[in-house]
Amino acid sequence: MTEKIQALSSLAEIVEKCQKCELARGRTNVVFGEGSAEADIVFVGEAPGYHEDLQGKPFVGSAGRFLDELLREILGLGRDEVYIANVIKCRPPENRDPTAHEIDSCKPYLLKQLEIISPRVVCTLGNFATKTLTNRREGISRLRRKPIRIGKFYVFPIFHPAAALHRGDLYDEVRQDFASLREFLDAPEPPEEPSQMELF
Ligand code: URA
Repeated sequence: MTEKIQALSSLAEIVEKCQKCELARGRTNVVFGEGSAEADIVFVGEAPGYHEDLQGKPFVGSAGRFLDELLREILGLGRDEVYIANVIKCRPPENRDPTAHEIDSCKPYLLKQLEIISPRVVCTLGNFATKTLTNRREGISRLRRKPIRIGKFYVFPIFHPAAALHRGDLYDEVRQDFASLREFLDAPEPPEEPSQMELF
């Protein structure tokens, strides 16, 4: 087992026992994250839904199937070549928005995951993950496709795949976002927005 895999599984064990907020009471599983500990890119979603809670894995419902398709068709990557996580590790009941306290309780686990994996790029899916990691006031429509240097890696915000499932008119936009991520990953010296922020 590599050092990173070991560190991630020790962290997963700690997160499984977490009782820091109300969400711990209603959960079936902790949805810690899944994929390669050596991944160059980590995708960060919002929170587990019904199917994720039942299976204990991120993005296994309809948004997950679409994410797999986008990864395969546009990025040429499989799930086992990237790492997929959420800001919140337990399902908010009825999929309501997590409270500030719930986010504050869970965010350190995500930061620790990112520190261990140490990817080059963290792709935030949608408003919630983007705001949580960048602390920017602008919404996803302003920030998408613009790399933001934060500490050791770039945050690359794009629309959440679920956006296209709720609004058919966003389907092409979501595909374009992934194409733009592909270009960013391929660029030798990616353009960046200056940032003073350090995550760790
Ligand atoms: N949407 C998310 O943001 N995360 C999941 O794990 C599933 C759907």
